[in-house]
Amino acid sequence: MSSYLVLARKYRPKQFSDIVGQQSVVRTLVNAIQLKRTHQAYVFSGSRGIGKTSIARIFSKALRCPNVIERDGLLVSCDACSDCHEIASGTSVNVLEIDGASNNGVENVREIRENAKFLPSSGQYKIYIIDEVHMLSNQAFNALLKTLEEPPEHVVFIFATTESHKIPETILGRCQRFDFKRVTVAQIVERVTQVLNSEKIEFEPAALSLIARAAEGSMRDALSILDQVISFSGMRVSAIAVRDSIGLIGTELVLSLLTAVLERNAVPALSTLQTAFNQGVDLRALLKALIEMTHALLLLKAGVTEPETPFNSDEIASLRRLLDRRELEELELIFQVYHHGLDLLSRAPQPKLVFDMLVIKTALAEALIRTGGSGDVKPTEVPRRNPVTESRPIQQATPTPAPVATATVVAAPPAAAPAAANIQSSAPAGLGFDFRATLSTPSTKTEPSTAVRSPVSTGGKTWEGMIQFATAARPVLGILLESVVEWTLPNGPEDKFRLGFRMKDRTKADQLQQKAMKDQFLLLTENYLGFKAQPEVFFSEIQSESLAEKAEREDREQQENTMKRILSHEVVQEASSLFGARLTQVEVVKRNS
Ligand SMILES: Nc1ncnc2c1ncn2[C@@H]1O[C@H](COP(=O)(O)OP(=O)(O)OP(=O)(O)O)[C@@H](O)[C@H]1O
Ligand SMILES: [Mg+2]
Ligand SMILES: [Zn+2]
Repeated sequence: MSSYLVLARKYRPKQFSDIVGQQSVVRTLVNAIQLKRTHQAYVFSGSRGIGKTSIARIFSKALRCPNVIERDGLLVSCDACSDCHEIASGTSVNVLEIDGASNNGVENVREIRENAKFLPSSGQYKIYIIDEVHMLSNQAFNALLKTLEEPPEHVVFIFATTESHKIPETILGRCQRFDFKRVTVAQIVERVTQVLNSEKIEFEPAALSLIARAAEGSMRDALSILDQVISFSGMRVSAIAVRDSIGLIGTELVLSLLTAVLERNAVPALSTLQTAFNQGVDLRALLKALIEMTHALLLLKAGVTEPETPFNSDEIASLRRLLDRRELEELELIFQVYHHGLDLLSRAPQPKLVFDMLVIKTALAEALIRTGGSGDVKPTEVPRRNPVTESRPIQQATPTPAPVATATVVAAPPAAAPAAANIQSSAPAGLGFDFRATLSTPSTKTEPSTAVRSPVSTGGKTWEGMIQFATAARPVLGILLESVVEWTLPNGPEDKFRLGFRMKDRTKADQLQQKAMKDQFLLLTENYLGFKAQPEVFFSEIQSESLAEKAEREDREQQENTMKRILSHEVVQEASSLFGARLTQVEVVKRNS
């Protein structure tokens, strides 16, 4: 760690001209001095390691150095006088650097106020640089405010902060504020190149862009990473050395993982992940990289020809080859699954399980669909590709959501959590790591069996189709229609739509005839059949079960079935014999319902 600060300190900018980026800040400060219109209080805000402290010191030198000159439109201090020396080393009595985090009390601010009354020991300005100023207590801010209301002529305050939103408006209102920008990848590469050249260290250009990306906009971080790489790899900075020393994820790894996922090859995807895991790859970093790559893919898919991404042209070319594997919408959902997964991954006691789930979900989920539950689905938005899997289960024809078992003797693993959010998929059965998955009942897909009678169809329109349509667009109406036991589809607008309810479903029949519901029904027929069909409600003699009852019964049967399977499941049996536990309570909850 001894070299940790070396480069960042050795290459601390001494003059405005050494500053990378932050042009408008530099410009404004230089102008102010030149025009003798400096403010009495400044706020320098922005993320870590982007030049706030450096510029505060350079500005102080420019204000105090008696030998300051102008060169190329910028001010240059002499770096030879005692002022310049003392400011650079932080020992000046006229430029005081105060750490706001450790001097955050009201008494500290009072001390500053007392001290500020005295004239500088020499020169014109006395400058207070208060770092991490957002750490001041409320009382301290109040005390500070008093000073800012009537500051002594000779005083300049510079408040540096990474969290300007924590500074009271009253304070901000009395300061000139500069929002420092993150340093760009190109700027970091340029600066790091200079540093390496003056250090006479060889490097691969690819290595520098890796460092710049990893630094996430912080110049200090970039130089610290560089230190680390140098101490790790000696006098040659290669891309491999950068990856190895800071655990960066190789693009090839991410690419092969994503390719397998997009091609729905779960097994190779999982084994790629396993290999990476065995090699000690940081899963969070890997998932972040996966997100980054999915994002790039989305941009390409959306038609952006030269997306602003961290990938080089070869990598982009590889991504282009993947474009036809999935629809834009699927890519969006995959992106969301990973994004959401990042949070889960960070909190999970066994992150690898979560990652496995994410991979399976994105590789295998047959229909990644939104479950909004809004009744406002327009007819054109009713999924066409696979209506059977994409609507609320109404009967056997539809895969019933896998029941999820939570037994008191066996804790459900966190891995099952990604099922949340807005993604729905069939349970990945048989992979042996997800207790829920191994217990889930495989979904059954059979041809729609007409539960009741009169499967009249008009131009390919069916009663089942109509119910699915209704369920997607108007769930309440859909539920009402599920109670119909007898029906006749109309052939045209002159025909009535006959709907038979059993006597015991009288209330539902009544509901359907109320104006609002009837209007919805008319709209539904218009959208589904192509014409408005008036409902004609009657009471049917048919006593067979309705679709609603059938769905209910099947649910019940499935739950009972699941319960039996849990009791005979080897995990439960093993738990019983291991701990002498007995299954006392089984709760079967329905996922995605
Ligand atoms: N804009 C920049 N141009 C050149 N070097 C920079 C720049 N910003 C930061 N550095 C490098 O990073 C080191 C730390 O910068 P500095 O202390 O000015 O950052 P800061 O913004 O005050 O960060 P913090 O919020 O962590 O205090 C400097 O010594 C220098 O090596
Ligand atoms: Mg600083
Ligand atoms: Zn000087």
